[in-house]
Amino acid sequence: MIDEVQMEFKANIDRIMGDIASITGGSITTNRPSYTIADAVARNYFFDIFEELDLSVSVDGAGNIRAAMAGREPELAPVLTGSHIDTVKNGGRFDGLVGTVGALECVRVFKENDYIPKRGVEIVIFSEEEATNFGVTLLGSKLLTGKVTPNELREIISDDGESADSVIRNAGFDPGEFNKKILTQGEVYAMIETHIEQGPILDRRGVSIGAVERIAGMETYRVVFRGVCGHAGATAMADRHDPMIGAAEVILEMKKVAENAESGTAVATVGKITARPGAANIIAREVEFNVDIRDAYDSSVTMLAGNLHILVERIAQKYGLEGESIRIAKSQAVALDREIVDMIQSVSQSLGISCMRVNSGAVHDTGMMAGVSRAGMIFVPSIDGASHCPEEDTKASDIENGVNVLIEIIKRLAEE
Ligand code: GLV
Ligand code: MN
Ligand code: MN
Repeated sequence: MIDEVQMEFKANIDRIMGDIASITGGSITTNRPSYTIADAVARNYFFDIFEELDLSVSVDGAGNIRAAMAGREPELAPVLTGSHIDTVKNGGRFDGLVGTVGALECVRVFKENDYIPKRGVEIVIFSEEEATNFGVTLLGSKLLTGKVTPNELREIISDDGESADSVIRNAGFDPGEFNKKILTQGEVYAMIETHIEQGPILDRRGVSIGAVERIAGMETYRVVFRGVCGHAGATAMADRHDPMIGAAEVILEMKKVAENAESGTAVATVGKITARPGAANIIAREVEFNVDIRDAYDSSVTMLAGNLHILVERIAQKYGLEGESIRIAKSQAVALDREIVDMIQSVSQSLGISCMRVNSGAVHDTGMMAGVSRAGMIFVPSIDGASHCPEEDTKASDIENGVNVLIEIIKRLAEE
């Protein structure tokens, strides 16, 4: 019974913080995109520990890693726990690592207590969660669950002009294997991910654990305006067809569309913009930018996307530009397993840890896994809500609480 929490099944926070410091080299800023040398170094850190723990390791065609601890009843579907180890550009220390290192800690604690769960327990590390290479979030879990097909990888292009298919193959993985086999319903019993909240709600309320109810839906667009290149000094304002003006207007209009959405929670972001040729004294010929649109419900995301298409067309016409908006990534909004949400609340209560229900504005691989298994997420607070930046921070005591809740949840699910 969960009320009789066994004290020895406790996370060792010094060991967890030690793992994080080792993987990040003690730095508060991280640059570790998937399929790079930095990624391989982090993978090797885990592989060495997986070997010490005598786990069975497998790596799939996206580079997703699974490290399995066998259960008492090997025919039962396993419980998975983990997250990702890739980072955004100049990211923080905790996004992804809290969940992967937390999963590792969970298995270490089981082993130290000579506990063999009924179901197998597997640590999972997903590749390319952050979209850093190709602008497509959750690529590893999308491939694993069939949301992106191997053929589509040829059309997903990095900033350096290389296809995802080629980048993944050059890193030593064969995404073609997903033509033959993707994860299907029933193969995994449940997926649980611990993660920093990345927003301010838990921190503002002084609550240690978030039991995540929904993960936001998301669409990412690449918008391009093409105009007439010209001299910044010699071209009168009235004679210009300046794609930068078109971009500026779309950005401001999308801010209004998101702010006025009925849900009250819609967001639209332009975090990346490129002017070509790109000089202070040249009216740009072409401006390209990404628009990231999210909300807790798909209908709202669809509404925002519809507005974006209309705006691009209207603004292109207004300034005599050519405009296009192409969707490059999509993930649907997800409701997580209600019983697991309740379980996170009751386990937190049993452990004397404060907990509240929250939604996730960030997307997570667990959202993709929710299509094929039961799925739940445990959030821990982000100080001042900071994330995707070096200011990202979480108190060690909150990470400890999150991993202690994770350990009890995994124990429960693995005995079902
Ligand atoms: C990933 O962290 C995302 O939500 O963009
Ligand atoms: Mn993350
Ligand atoms: Mn992230």
